[in-house]
Amino acid sequence: MNLNILRSPIVHRVKYFIKDKSLEFILQDKLYQSLSLSQSEIKQYRDEFLQSKIIDEINEKLEEFAQNVTGVNKKGYQYKTGAMPLEKGIYLYSIFRKIQPEIAVETGVCNGVSTTFLLLALEKNQKGKLYSIDLPEVVGMDYEEGYFWEGKKGAAIPKDKESGWIIPTYLRNRWELILGKSQDKLPELLEKVKEIDFFMHDSEHSYNCMWFEFNQTYEVLRQGGVLMSDNIERKKNTAFQDFAKEKGKSIVYLGPKLAFLVK
Ligand SMILES: C[S@@+](CC[C@H](N)C(=O)[O-])C[C@H]1O[C@@H](n2cnc3c(N)ncnc32)[C@H](O)[C@@H]1O
Repeated sequence: MNLNILRSPIVHRVKYFIKDKSLEFILQDKLYQSLSLSQSEIKQYRDEFLQSKIIDEINEKLEEFAQNVTGVNKKGYQYKTGAMPLEKGIYLYSIFRKIQPEIAVETGVCNGVSTTFLLLALEKNQKGKLYSIDLPEVVGMDYEEGYFWEGKKGAAIPKDKESGWIIPTYLRNRWELILGKSQDKLPELLEKVKEIDFFMHDSEHSYNCMWFEFNQTYEVLRQGGVLMSDNIERKKNTAFQDFAKEKGKSIVYLGPKLAFLVK
């Protein structure tokens, strides 16, 4: 595994670098209390993740993105991968290893980094299926006004690629991609699967969309299931906090913008 700290500004924009400190985040008390993760499980999952070839595989694809994608979209935002950082990947992986989901749902795939982390854990569990909903922005394409939400920035996939293109082939057999707006696609998916063990939001970070997704998925989330959200804003957009309050649930923060609650 490549543990180099990467210094080139372009590469730095997309590649992971590992600081020892970031690996300690996983030891946060709240994380193991809320899901009864023991210290030895935390260490085991972290070691499994770091010893897998996944970081090198993702870095290779992100390098390809950096080499081929430049410029800004119509709104003037620099194209970017939108990828979750490595520490979050270790969390996602560890949570999936612990809760052993049968059915998991996420919104927001883009190039597929979070999806890869989740699928890696399902593969190790040797069970479970992940459904992912995504409305991708393709580099160089023009979209009519209102196609995406007004707050969308530059997360995009390269021309001639599909959402989740970086996901290695050996992880795809537990995955189903649904293309379209989560507001349109989520209800029919949940109707089909009936009950879920995990949901994660990382798509349209508007208050309305997040509120919609949390309400929809909580209905079918099993007791003890995990509802997670990225892009939690403590001041600008308090959808997750408001939702947790309404349900009387405490929030476990895994960083400034990633958090979950347990039903
Ligand atoms: C931040 S990116 C997801 C990054 C991904 N989770 C990762 O770690 O690599 C957000 C994705 O959600 C898509 N998106 C935006 N609005 C959406 C909507 N209403 N429904 C579904 N996907 C949406 C974006 O185009 C983009 O592909």
